[in-house]
Amino acid sequence: MTSYQSAKEEIRRTADIVELIGRFVKLKKAGRNYVGLCPFHAEKDPSFTVNAERQTFHCFGCKKGGDIFSFWMEYHSSTFPEALRDLAERYNVTISEGFSASKEREKAAQRESLFRLNEKATVYFERALGHSQKGKSARAYLNRRSLQKDTIPEFRIGYAPDEWDGLVGILRHEHVDLNLAVQAGLIISRKSGGYYDRFRNRVIFPIFNLRQQVVGFGGRVLDDSLPKYLNTPETPIFHKGESLYGLHASHKMIREKGRVVIVEGYMDCLALKKHGLNEVVATLGTALTSRHVRKLKGYADEAIVVFDADEAGKSAALRSLPVFSNEGLSAKAVVLPEGHDPDTFVNLNGLDVFLEIIDQAFPMFDFFVEQRFSERDSDEGRVRALKDILPVLSEIRDFTLRSLYVRRLSERIGVKEDVVLSELTRFMKKPSGEAFERKINGQMMTGKKAQKSLTDLQLLNLLVHYPETVSRLMACECRTLLSDPVVMKIVDTIFAEFSQETPFSPEKLLDILDSEQACEQLREVLHRPFVCSQQDVEQAVVEFEEEVYQAKISVSFQRAKERGDMERLVQLTKLKTQGPLRS
Ligand code: GTP
Ligand code: MN
Repeated sequence: MTSYQSAKEEIRRTADIVELIGRFVKLKKAGRNYVGLCPFHAEKDPSFTVNAERQTFHCFGCKKGGDIFSFWMEYHSSTFPEALRDLAERYNVTISEGFSASKEREKAAQRESLFRLNEKATVYFERALGHSQKGKSARAYLNRRSLQKDTIPEFRIGYAPDEWDGLVGILRHEHVDLNLAVQAGLIISRKSGGYYDRFRNRVIFPIFNLRQQVVGFGGRVLDDSLPKYLNTPETPIFHKGESLYGLHASHKMIREKGRVVIVEGYMDCLALKKHGLNEVVATLGTALTSRHVRKLKGYADEAIVVFDADEAGKSAALRSLPVFSNEGLSAKAVVLPEGHDPDTFVNLNGLDVFLEIIDQAFPMFDFFVEQRFSERDSDEGRVRALKDILPVLSEIRDFTLRSLYVRRLSERIGVKEDVVLSELTRFMKKPSGEAFERKINGQMMTGKKAQKSLTDLQLLNLLVHYPETVSRLMACECRTLLSDPVVMKIVDTIFAEFSQETPFSPEKLLDILDSEQACEQLREVLHRPFVCSQQDVEQAVVEFEEEVYQAKISVSFQRAKERGDMERLVQLTKLKTQGPLRS
């Protein structure tokens, strides 16, 4: 047993951040760092860096960063105690109970109990499916839908019996806090008091996270009644716009193949898997979000989306275009013949025919244009289709890509490129919507960056990357040259640490600094050093000493002038040309 601090240290020693993050984000070596597409914000060009030497990561785009613990928390939306526990498990480090601050701990404990409760419910549903009488109809249903025997245990498919208080009863019996089960979305409290099961007489598909924990459930009716599917509502551990059904079982193959096939439904995903297509996930009927795509691009270079042949499917394809473009994941699209979804299609025709269709997938943009314009050959139709696509194009942030699409579009519909372009410009000028907000935000960002003076950054760089300069810079009071309060804070902390221990390690500062802004700034410098020769370093220190000296003299000069102290003025003029004393 070790204390939590030493567990943290031990995990840090054992873990390799490049290996760990590399499991979730594709990383390439670039100089001293590894770079990849940031999993935390939309981007097409990698600004996410991982530094093996320092065991930290930093995104130059969204400024998120830190150590393996920060990564784990951000990526899995978990608390620190959870991250500690997960990583301790992964690296075989024992931690003693009773660590961490109370608030975090409470939150972690609540999430932990939600996971445990979902696990209990999963087992309950699995047993009900296996139950000789109760599970009969559900087993027959799954059989009809040709789900193989081994798919059921692999995906832990179950059945919620046709009872109002099946699960409620079990939980009561086991003295589970029923309010917690309400929070988990498993049961619902009646206005008149008491509780009832949310899922009744439905086949249950547990939804897993990448740690193989059950985050929520989908339940399908056995007949044609409505709603066809019922999902767990949003809970502290289930977010629909993030969850991808099947990813927990597919991510290895997705990475191996470099591609992911995205379908809409549970059954589609399972059917394709059963037939041997392993790089598949389902979006659970929601529109594809950037959070989905961000997760996937950590594994795949290309996505192939299978859309329904109906109008809803086509508009879903259209809406997904900017999501893929802005996230920098190349995407293709296919539709199956009218009346089919992947499940029915692959069960009828087999995997090879399905793969042939996938191989002929069009890039998303061309797919859309083909779909949109083939049926609307009248002029009015083309104008209408053009109007439909403008908002989508306007959301594509990459200027070059947007221009490329404009050209392709104009060629396809036979309208001059300038006309399409000016229509698009007119649309984008309207100061409304997200695009505008982004622009403003972008401007504010650059404004903020520009404010940071070169002196501040240079000084910080010296202190962090050339620790041999710390004592001299501290002695000459270089702090007075700083203008940025964030940099000041870091420099003060460096000096304070330095006074306590020499040599000090800059990484440790990330733990000590209590402001997120200061951590961002420090990581930025840690991940992108100005590399100087020994001579340059010496020169820079001398210049800083000189600058502080001159600044001090001019202050004294000003004061002496105000006092009319001639003697002092003469003395100061002499000192000014002399320069600082060198020891
Ligand atoms: P099967 O009829 O079982 O083959 O389902 P499907 O997957 O073919 O259904 P469909 O294409 O209609 O819907 C695709 C996905 O959307 C489903 O897998 C569900 O995740 C989701 N979905 C469909 N209907 C509903 C509904 O009524 N409520 C909710 N919450 N989700 C639904
Ligand atoms: Mn279906």
